[in-house]
Amino acid sequence: MPRIPVAKALPDFPWDSLESAKAKAFAHPGGIVNLSVGTPVDPVAPIIQDALTAVAAVPGYPTTHGTEELRSAAVEALRRRYGITGIDPAAVLPAIGTKELIAWLPRLLGLGADDLVVIPELAYPTYEVGALLAGARVIRADGLNRLGPEGASLIFVNSPSNPTGKVLGLEHLRKVVDWARRRGAIVASDECYLGLSWEGEALSILDERVNDGDLTGLLAVHSLSKTSNLASYRAGFVTGDPALVAELLEVRKHAGMMVPLPIQSAMTAALSDDDHENEQRERYRRRREILLAAVRGAGFTVDNSEAGLYLWATRGEACRDTVEWFAERGILVAPGEFYGPGGGTHVRIALTASDERIAAAAERLA
Ligand SMILES: Cc1ncc(COP(=O)(O)O)c(C=O)c1O
Repeated sequence: MPRIPVAKALPDFPWDSLESAKAKAFAHPGGIVNLSVGTPVDPVAPIIQDALTAVAAVPGYPTTHGTEELRSAAVEALRRRYGITGIDPAAVLPAIGTKELIAWLPRLLGLGADDLVVIPELAYPTYEVGALLAGARVIRADGLNRLGPEGASLIFVNSPSNPTGKVLGLEHLRKVVDWARRRGAIVASDECYLGLSWEGEALSILDERVNDGDLTGLLAVHSLSKTSNLASYRAGFVTGDPALVAELLEVRKHAGMMVPLPIQSAMTAALSDDDHENEQRERYRRRREILLAAVRGAGFTVDNSEAGLYLWATRGEACRDTVEWFAERGILVAPGEFYGPGGGTHVRIALTASDERIAAAAERLA
């Protein structure tokens, strides 16, 4: 049998197709305003940097499970920030950023060709990549009724959503949990943007109101990239069903998927402090207000976007035309089709630029 490179099973890396729009935006005399990716631009808080360097001399291997301090800090942060209770620190598992965890989760859970993975209709691309790496089948469905009698092995939910900023309500989340329970499916809730809500409340899958205090089959994935500006550090964790987390721990130990100790120390500091997180949220709130008014003022409709770090905007034309229109003004945005076939007439505009660049974008849109 000839070798089949894994990359052959994966979609083309979509960002390469933005190169010409990027070149056009770069040519703007005022410079590019890059709102195409959600990468943080504000510095890491000093208390987090200090925690990183404090253990810089430690030579030994870190543990895959993470330090007790880190796991307790995660449990406490979930309680303080989101009112989540009933999490055992032993059921917290650090990840080298959540992208790797999501990409490998179906495989680590033992899914394969017989399994179906459900992902949102408009989704962060790594859910599909994860299913493909496991050799599993993938279906895009927001309502589980669409699946008919067929069960599923794993359901990814993402509220607040990337790219749409949509927040799933209590009833919706309860229905997902109930549907999964009745079929023995696992729910993986990607809660990357849970701490960045602008209108209304976003709920964790671990919230008692959602799961009635039963965590069986539930996993919540938390990234520190956006809320604590730690994208460069690669810092996240997964928690929820203790049996599932123990299973993941076992495999990740064998595979060497461990978070470096200085990063564990930095994560502990970040999870123990809410001030830097609140400050960052307020920065994004101000940027969102400026950009939202400017985008609407330029004639766009902004759908959902009630939470998270993106505006999901449309004026009813093909998304690539909108990308070009923005690029002519020196602003780079992401075409909605990157996130699923339903995104063909939207663009995703990130709030992750400096105050100066957001002001420049607003001026160009006026
Ligand atoms: C929905 C969603 N999940 C997960 C991630 C991955 O974040 P990280 O790997 O930095 O933790 C991102 C990053 O943009 C995201 O948008």
